[in-house]
Amino acid sequence: MVVNVPPMGWNSWNTFNKNINEQLIRDTADKMVSEGLLDCGYEYLVIDDCWARRSRVDGKLVADPEKFPNGIKAVADYVHSKGLKFGIYSCAGMLTCAGYPSSYDHEFVDAATFAEWGVDFLKYDYCYKPQTVSGDVLYKRMGAALANCGRDILFSACTWGTDETKKWIKTTGAHMWRYSGDIENCWNSLKDISMRPNSSIKYSAPNCFCDLDMMTVGMKSDNGKNMTGCTEDEFRLEFSLWAMLGAPLMMGCDVRNLDDSARSILMNRDVIAIDRDPACNQAFPLIGKNRYEDDYKREKVVYARLLENGDYAIGIFNLSDEDFFSFGLVQLDTLGLNEGSGKTLLMRELWTGETVKAENGVYGSNVPPHSCKLFRCKVVDI
Ligand code: GLA
Repeated sequence: MVVNVPPMGWNSWNTFNKNINEQLIRDTADKMVSEGLLDCGYEYLVIDDCWARRSRVDGKLVADPEKFPNGIKAVADYVHSKGLKFGIYSCAGMLTCAGYPSSYDHEFVDAATFAEWGVDFLKYDYCYKPQTVSGDVLYKRMGAALANCGRDILFSACTWGTDETKKWIKTTGAHMWRYSGDIENCWNSLKDISMRPNSSIKYSAPNCFCDLDMMTVGMKSDNGKNMTGCTEDEFRLEFSLWAMLGAPLMMGCDVRNLDDSARSILMNRDVIAIDRDPACNQAFPLIGKNRYEDDYKREKVVYARLLENGDYAIGIFNLSDEDFFSFGLVQLDTLGLNEGSGKTLLMRELWTGETVKAENGVYGSNVPPHSCKLFRCKVVDI
């Protein structure tokens, strides 16, 4: 299976944690279609941890009969009937992160079970790792099992970037891989994840995308964790950054109760088009002398990315608590548009629709704290 653009979908964990059941999944599937989310590209509906019985039956994983009385295949069939794809969760270690049976030493039998149920996506976690087997081998086991199970199953690795995941993940057959610990629905968590991707994005590529975690956009409840949540600007920043870096767009909110703000963010097709640009060129930061260093970390950062049709995407992100006066920071010669080229950028901001032409080889503006600007720019004559 080849995955050419970052996957999109929904995952149950952020909002529902262990409180999942067949009705929730059916209702979510209905809403993904009726809200127009599937139409925008959100095609995978993924059940995270806590779906299984506490022990195997005849050596196989089975669904918790209280949560899923008709079994997983019935749920997958329903999800498919809506035109969506169906995903499930397991773990490479001795137990899943929430303590349920995992696939360690059962990789081939579980891959066969998943194929039989009609699974299209497997999120594969890293808790309770046995000391005797290295991480890359654990993921190779499931990678080989999935590639031989007779069904296309997208392989989503969830190692939180540990054990230098980025250096070996492409040897395992994984189509995406988490580079950080779990996101929480609050600014500090979003900021922490947003400041660290530089060492990982250069390893992100078609068929093996760096995953910044499920998005918190639109989250109102987080199952009792009582996080402070984020403002609309912060949610917009999250979505823009994920898109700028070409990350998978997995929703973590309750799509049964979307408000207009969440809709306008999650369904901004111009921003989604940046995320899924078919060229998958690498984004690069425009600030700082050593901008290709691994440990590049800044609260104020500008990223650019050359798109397939010759446009540039430019994102100005302010993660700090003060204004970001970015005047002069977007220097067109660093984008390959030096003065002698006779070219400049016609820049359209994708949240406001505002259009501006870069003058004298530079662009800059003020970006308020905890917000961003995201442009799609045409290369035009000066
Ligand atoms: C880990 C993962 C989360 C989620 C939980 C489930 O923490 O990183 O995304 O899957 O396990 O237990």
